[in-house]
Amino acid sequence: MSVLNKRFLLGNGAPIPALGFGTWQIPAGEEAYASVAAALTAGYRHIDTARAYGNEASVGAAITDSGLPRDDVFVTTKLPAEVKNYREAVDSFDESLAALGTGHIDLYLIHAPWPWHEMGADYATGNAEVWRALEEFEAAGLARAIGVSNFDPTNLEQLLDTAGTVPAVNQIKYHIGHRQAETVAYCQRLGIPVAGYSPLGTGRILDSATITTIADRYDATAAQLCIRYLIQNGIVALPKTTNATRMRQNADLDFEISALDMTALNALDGQRH
Ligand code: A2P
Repeated sequence: MSVLNKRFLLGNGAPIPALGFGTWQIPAGEEAYASVAAALTAGYRHIDTARAYGNEASVGAAITDSGLPRDDVFVTTKLPAEVKNYREAVDSFDESLAALGTGHIDLYLIHAPWPWHEMGADYATGNAEVWRALEEFEAAGLARAIGVSNFDPTNLEQLLDTAGTVPAVNQIKYHIGHRQAETVAYCQRLGIPVAGYSPLGTGRILDSATITTIADRYDATAAQLCIRYLIQNGIVALPKTTNATRMRQNADLDFEISALDMTALNALDGQRH
C-alpha cells in the first residue's frame, strides 16, 4: 500500500493521512499555489499550513481548483502563536476560513504555547482562553478536530487543567536526531497522536553520513529514509518541498526500515551524526 493511502487516527478517532505536505516558508502566490497543486497531483491528500505562513489563500485556491471532493483532502491550519485571547482567536479563525475557502478546517491548532518572541514564557491562562474558542469551532463543525503545536508536557498539563477536550494532535519538530522522546511519551500516555514538522531537519540532516549509509541499504535517498523513519515511529510526517520530483520521491516509501536500523537511528537523538 502506498504511504499516501496510509492513515493514522487522531485523538478524536477520525483518520488523518500519515503523510502530509508542509507549506512552511513557501511564499504566498504562484509558488504556494503551484506547489500545493503539484502535491495534490502527486497524490498527497493532507496539506499543512498556518495563518502565520501567509499562504492560506493560495493553498486554499489550489485545493479548490484541484476539483477533488472536499472530503478527500485533509487541511490543517493554525492560530498564530501571538494570539492568546478569545476575541482575537475568533477573528483569526474567521480569517483563516475565509482565506482558505474550503468551508471547514479539518484540523485547527494553537501554533505555539507562547508568542515566538517570548519562547518559554508562561501563557497558561491565554492558552486556556483560546482553547475554549477552539472547542467552540469544533462544536460548530467548522473545525473537525482541534489540537496544539510545539507544546511540551508542562504546556499540555496546564492546558488539560481546564480543557474540556483533549487535543487531537500535538504537532512538533521531529526528525532523526531530534525525536523529543519525553514529549512523545507524554502524548502517547494521554492518547494524543504526534505529527512531525521538519522531518528532514529543514534539509540540514540529508548529508549525514550515518543517514546516507543506512538509506543506501534500502536503495532509498536520505530524504526517503528520514520520512519513513517518522511513519514507522507512528508520527505523521509533514515534509516540505517546492520541487515536484522531490514530492513524488518523498511519497515513494515502499520499504521497511529494519528494527535494528530503527534502534540505531533512534540512538542518534541529540548526537552529531
Ligand atoms: P526544496 O523545497 O528546494 O525541495 P523539512 O521538510 O524538514 O522542513 O525540509 C525542507 C527542506 O528539504 C527544503 O529546503 C527542501 O528543499 C528540502 N527537500 C525536501 N525534499 C527533499 C528531497 N527529496 N531531497 C533533497 N532535499 C529535499
